[in-house]
Amino acid sequence: MVDRIESLRAEASAAISAAPDRAALEELRVRFLGRRSELTGILRGISELEPSERGPVGAAANAARTALEDELAARREALDAAEIERALEGEAIDVTLPGTPPVAPGHLHVLTRTRREIEDVFVGLGYRVLEGPEIEHDFYNFTALNHPPGHPARMLQDSFYIDSTTLPAGVLNERGLPPGPQDVLLRTHTSPMQVRAMEAQEPPIFIVVPGTVYRRDTIDATHLPMFNQVEGLAVGEGISLTDLAGTLDHAAKALFGPERRTRLKPDYFPFTEPSVQVDVSCFACDGSGRLANGERDPLCKGTGWIEILGAGMVDPNVFGFVGGEYDPETTQGFAFGMGIERIAMLKHGIPDLRLFFENDVRFLEQFS
Ligand code: DAH
Repeated sequence: MVDRIESLRAEASAAISAAPDRAALEELRVRFLGRRSELTGILRGISELEPSERGPVGAAANAARTALEDELAARREALDAAEIERALEGEAIDVTLPGTPPVAPGHLHVLTRTRREIEDVFVGLGYRVLEGPEIEHDFYNFTALNHPPGHPARMLQDSFYIDSTTLPAGVLNERGLPPGPQDVLLRTHTSPMQVRAMEAQEPPIFIVVPGTVYRRDTIDATHLPMFNQVEGLAVGEGISLTDLAGTLDHAAKALFGPERRTRLKPDYFPFTEPSVQVDVSCFACDGSGRLANGERDPLCKGTGWIEILGAGMVDPNVFGFVGGEYDPETTQGFAFGMGIERIAMLKHGIPDLRLFFENDVRFLEQFS
C-alpha cells in the first residue's frame, strides 16, 4: 500500500511540474487530491486496515497529500508569475519610437521661411546675420540716421513712444541722461542696427538684420502696425553704387527666379545719398505689362516692374554719427531695407497682409 502511495505521489508530482496552465493544474488537483481520488480513498479506508498497517499507510498518505498540495501551490505561483511576465512583455511601450500624433506635425510659418531664404542669399555672399532691440532710442532710430529734427517720421502719429515714467530707474538715454518723453520708442525700421553694428565693429562690415518693426497705422490689406524687415549694410573700401546694383540684382534673381531683371530708380531716404528704389521685372507678365490675353497686368499695374526695396549709398552724415574708424570723408558703403511680408506676398501671390497673423491653418498649410 505504501508503495502504491509512493508511485501515486511520483506520478502526480511529474504531472504537476509539467502542467501548462491553471486549468490543467486544477484538473490534476481533482484527479490526485479530489474527493474521489485514489489517495483520498486510501486515507478514508485507514480504519479498515490491519492495525499494524494503519500507522505507516496513514503517515505515507498524509505526507503525500501535503507534499502534493505544496507542489500544486508552488506550480500555481510559477504559472501566475509567468503569465504576468508575458502580459508585461506584450504591453511594453518603446518610448524611443516616434509617436503617431493626432494632428500632423507642423512646419515653419511662411514669414519665417521667407526670412530664412533672404538670410541665406546674403550669407551666401559672406554677410553675417545680426539682430537688434525692438525697443530703441530715438537717437538710433532717427537722429543718427540723419532724420533732421521735425522730420515727419519722428511724429507721434507715426511711432509708438514708450512713456519714460514707466521705464526702470537708472535707464539712461544715449547721452547718459534720464530719457525724455520721446527718447524711447518701438523701432520703426531695422535701420538703427546700421549704426549700432558700426559702433560695435570696424569696417569692413557686411551684415543683414532681420526683425520686427512697429508703426502707428491703420489695419487693412496692406497696412499693419507691426511688420518685419531685413536691413542690409555693406561698408568697405571702394564699395560703390555698382556693387549695390549687382548685389541686389543677385538677391532678386535668387528670391524670385533667375530670369528676373532689376532696375534702380531715384528715391529719397534721409540716411542714404543717393537713394534708390529697386524694382524687379514683373513675374506675372515678365515685364511686358500685358497678360497673355492682352489685358493690362494688375500685379504691376501695366508697368512691367514691381518695387521690392529701398536702398542707397550710406549718407556721410551717418558715418559722422558713428565716428571712430568710419571717417565720413573716406568711408563708403551701401544699405538696403526690404519688407519680409512684401517679399512673401509677391513670391506667393498673397493678397492680404492680415493673413500672416490670423493663424488660420487653411492659409498656413499652403506653405509647408
Ligand atoms: N528704413 C527704410 C524704411 O523702413 C527702408 C530702407 C531704405 C532701408 C533705404 C535702408 C535704405 O537701409 O538704404 O522705409
